[in-house]
Amino acid sequence: MKCRKCGHEAVINMRQHKLALCGDHFLEWVPEQTQRFIEKYKMFTRDERILVAVSGGKDSLSLWDVLLRLGYRADGLYIGLGIEGGVDYSNQSHEMCVHFLENFKFQTPALRTGASVSNVNVTADDGPQTTNTQYLIPTLHVVDIGKLYGETISEVASRTTRGRGKPCSVCGLIKRHVMNRVARDGGYDVLATGHNLDDEVAVLFGNTLTWNAGYLVRQAPVLPADKPGLARKVKPFCRLYERESAAYALVRGIEYIYDECPFAEGSTSIAHKEVLNQMEKDSPGVKLQFYLNFLRAREQGLFAGAERAAHVELNACEKCGQPTSAPELCAFCRLWEKR
Ligand code: AMP
Ligand code: FES
Ligand code: ZN
Ligand code: ZN
Repeated sequence: MKCRKCGHEAVINMRQHKLALCGDHFLEWVPEQTQRFIEKYKMFTRDERILVAVSGGKDSLSLWDVLLRLGYRADGLYIGLGIEGGVDYSNQSHEMCVHFLENFKFQTPALRTGASVSNVNVTADDGPQTTNTQYLIPTLHVVDIGKLYGETISEVASRTTRGRGKPCSVCGLIKRHVMNRVARDGGYDVLATGHNLDDEVAVLFGNTLTWNAGYLVRQAPVLPADKPGLARKVKPFCRLYERESAAYALVRGIEYIYDECPFAEGSTSIAHKEVLNQMEKDSPGVKLQFYLNFLRAREQGLFAGAERAAHVELNACEKCGQPTSAPELCAFCRLWEKR
């Protein structure tokens, strides 16, 4: 298979786009596509400050890399969940994020002259540091849940009924809260996550099987900030296949954690991904079309009724100030009150 642009050996064949590319052209194509989606869905502008939630996985690290290569002002946020899972999962993930930033700075001449590698502004703090606002030097904020709140995800999950014994629901709640908090306290305009097309399609598939209109209406490449002080949420890789983001990390030499979260094993979203991959194999492009046609239908108002029905007035949580439908404390603050 030859690269469509230069005729050299291709490293990837994207059947859904009828496009094969060599390494160099693929490394150009991914940022071009990402920039196209950023503009198409009006995710952010060049003047805005972006906080990229990095998990140490291929998607979020590739996304951070692409945004930096495109010249955006993007800092990272890693949330230490304290998950061991037999593979030292959280520590390994953290290391990947630190390593990524050190490497990025080392490989970028402008940054190399600005600060030495040992000077990398990686903050092992319990909250955001806003001191480093220098345009070119990205910062990695690290929030360790165990250190900050006294309990890891697994410990909190074991004493609540939320999620029926699985920590994923508690984990999602905590991650969302921390992401919002760091974005707000750090003065970021936008919070970007590494969700790829396969993630989005698996969620869409699940919500369509149950016709969960309330969730369907809130699934989008951009979620506007609900309240003043909250960052907009964006998914710049939402149209990039998982294998494309993995190939990007590989060709670009980004090291990432291969393991999935140990608690994700047996989840319905993984089962849905398998079904969807089988369908994709038989008809290339079916996942992308499913997603794009959904976005179009949503845009045309298919779920407008659900949107009106799902609309609830939000208050500011008495303790943390984040929006909540509860009268006093938000679900996150209630989690810690119950100890
Ligand atoms: P997941 O829910 O694990 O598929 O992750 C979806 C996205 O959430 C990732 O692409 C990241 O942007 C973000 N994310 C997941 N885990 C973390 C974490 N521990 N710290 C920061 N961001 C995370
Ligand atoms: Fe949170 Fe797996 S990443 S439970
Ligand atoms: Zn080429
Ligand atoms: Zn709260």
